[in-house]
Amino acid sequence: MADVKLTQVRKSFGEIDIIRGVDLDIKHGEFVVFVGPSGCGKSTLLRAISGLEDITSGELRIGDQVMNHVDPSKRGIAMVFQSYALYPHMTVRENMGFALKHAGVAKDVVKSKVDAAAKILGLEPLMDRKPKALSGGQRQRVAIGRAIVRDPQVFLFDEPLSNLDAELRVHMRIEIARLHRELGSTIIYVTHDQVEAMTLADKIVVLRAGVVEQVGAPLVLYDNPANTFVAGFIGSPRMNFLEGTVTGQPRFNGTNYCEVTLKGFDNTVVNLPFAGAVPAVGTEVSVGVRPEHFQDDGDAVLPVTIDMLEHLGGETFMYARSSGDAMVVIESKHGRSLRSGQALEARFDAGKALLFHKDGQRIYAH
Ligand SMILES: Nc1ncnc2c1ncn2[C@@H]1O[C@H](COP(=O)(O)OP(=O)(O)OP(=O)(O)O)[C@@H](O)[C@H]1O
Ligand SMILES: [Mg+2]
Repeated sequence: MADVKLTQVRKSFGEIDIIRGVDLDIKHGEFVVFVGPSGCGKSTLLRAISGLEDITSGELRIGDQVMNHVDPSKRGIAMVFQSYALYPHMTVRENMGFALKHAGVAKDVVKSKVDAAAKILGLEPLMDRKPKALSGGQRQRVAIGRAIVRDPQVFLFDEPLSNLDAELRVHMRIEIARLHRELGSTIIYVTHDQVEAMTLADKIVVLRAGVVEQVGAPLVLYDNPANTFVAGFIGSPRMNFLEGTVTGQPRFNGTNYCEVTLKGFDNTVVNLPFAGAVPAVGTEVSVGVRPEHFQDDGDAVLPVTIDMLEHLGGETFMYARSSGDAMVVIESKHGRSLRSGQALEARFDAGKALLFHKDGQRIYAH
């Protein structure tokens, strides 16, 4: 079994702390995706798991073995990078079998492993070609094939699809999901792509400046972010944060509400249903509203003027502005009938809005 467990893992380059105490529990067979802004340490953490970088302190276990000082080749892992650097003078077959051949594995074993991987990846008709005669997606599949033949317990992928065009990315994304299903191995995958993260992951790890902000299933992070960083990072276009102050704790029809007066919206008031303790009057908060939570029958009303419209065909994103210059992004069902400069009352469902403290921490309503 290849559970991967990180306990208080730290990595510094000289004086600079890059990974600052990461705890992670990855179960055998899980597909875990690391996301976070550029420079937050995603690749460094992956390289630390692989052994390409030493860990400064903390413990890394794969299965039941402590791996801190184990040679990368003995960790039972295989890594696939964004730049897949195939050997140009070797055929697909030779590229895929190279590591095994180099390790002294018998010829017939190499052949059967390479054939099996080629079958999984649909590379059989291409085995005698050289890399220059392959498309980007085919080359990426060879790179994945090179990893598969090694029978790793854990696959590490660092933005493997980011050099591919949009259509190929979708195609390879589906292939990677299928591969995971067929091999049942543990996968740790770094990406910048929201859709890859949401669709591939069993579990997403959101990193910021070398610290784990939140870990959870994609929809759990989407529905229940722990802070404004995660709320803003998961979901595209990002969640709107409307600044305001708690001005009341009304109770209507047996439900408690948190009354928030919004800044920049002509003292517009919204009432959020609250089963938990309502924050004190005077607390500065931000109200998180996702673009898709705007709808015609919403009970909270924001007076805005349309700044710009993005028509994507099936959906329209409206960039709107309040009288006090607060910006909101709204997903509209009526895109084609809207015009820039138009004033309107945008409505959202207050029951779906999230509340955050000024410092970004979530205030739970339940
Ligand atoms: N060998 C190194 N020496 C010094 N600093 C390094 C080294 N490798 C990485 N860093 C620094 O560590 C930080 C994290 O880098 P890392 O490559 O892990 O980021 P990342 O999250 O993968 O970013 P991206 O999304 O841009 O790939 C960066 O500030 C980077 O400059
Ligand atoms: Mg990186």
